[in-house]
Amino acid sequence: MSHPTAVNTGKSKRRLVETLNYLDGEYKNDIGKEIREGLSALQKYIPCKYFYDARGLKLFEEICQLPEYYPTRTEISILRVIAPELMETFADKDIVELGSGANLKIRILLDAVDKSIRATLRYIPVDISESAVIETSRDLLERYPELQVLGIVADFTSQLDVIPTERPLMFCFLGSTIGNMEEDETISFLQSISENMKTDDRLLVGFDMVKTRETVEAAYNDSKGVTAEFNKNILNVLNNELNANFDPSHFDHLAFFSEDYDRIEMHLRANRDISVKLKAIDLETEFKKDETIHTENSRKFTGKSIKDLASRAGLSIQNWYSDPAGWFSLVVMIRDPQRNG
Ligand code: AVJ
Repeated sequence: MSHPTAVNTGKSKRRLVETLNYLDGEYKNDIGKEIREGLSALQKYIPCKYFYDARGLKLFEEICQLPEYYPTRTEISILRVIAPELMETFADKDIVELGSGANLKIRILLDAVDKSIRATLRYIPVDISESAVIETSRDLLERYPELQVLGIVADFTSQLDVIPTERPLMFCFLGSTIGNMEEDETISFLQSISENMKTDDRLLVGFDMVKTRETVEAAYNDSKGVTAEFNKNILNVLNNELNANFDPSHFDHLAFFSEDYDRIEMHLRANRDISVKLKAIDLETEFKKDETIHTENSRKFTGKSIKDLASRAGLSIQNWYSDPAGWFSLVVMIRDPQRNG
């Protein structure tokens, strides 16, 4: 179901930010259902998509600037080098960004073409956060009044079908957000993207690569404690969304690299015995001291694991770019020409 909402840009009255909102009442129930499931499991967990309320988005942006958090910086350095090549002959097309993060990355792509070309392009940010979509759209329209922008508020993991795909397009899935998914989820997600791709469409994916444990663990245990704040903020989100009474200070931030899964795991560890009520879903839950809530996986990739994902998802790798140290990869994929359907 769609609830289109047009939003005024404020400053530049000439343009409207056109957004389509595909999240409806079901989303609220979903939160309740998912949190109930997560907090009733043997290893308690909270899906990491709930990090990103307004404060969570701010904290994440702050993380991206931290000296220890290398992924953003590294990905941007690669993008700067490859943008001209990526955008060569890129006219009359859509750039669909799954998870509209900080729009600096898209700006690097847009800056690589002339204004006259840019006027033929449309930017389509897709995100679960309406404020993120509107802010990104507004900012880009102010910087590039000639650009077409269509914001889509939707859960791209389950609502890919709401994205308009009639024009030639490039999907962008940046920032190693792909690392948040389980292996099976990753395959089926990439598969459904490839099913939405036409022969000449491209998919640009950012992958954070396996590297030394010290480097990766430092990125998730920064000395300023911003990541710890970000992690604990997920409890505020539950307090607000589900009328719960978590005290974030009763939990400690925990982040470590698991060699078995090649991933960073983030947890919140109870520093005492705790009992919490989530009134909106009529749930009461107990934590023993030292028990953890698993809040995020951030998988790190290898050349082999990326090739394996692509082939299992019916995609073929067209181009592969990395920084000199091989810390991060940007991979351009197309539909596997051998694939039927
Ligand atoms: C936005 C999901 C890619 O996994 O590195 C940053 C989120 N979590 N610090 C990541 C995150 C802790 C980030 N992603």
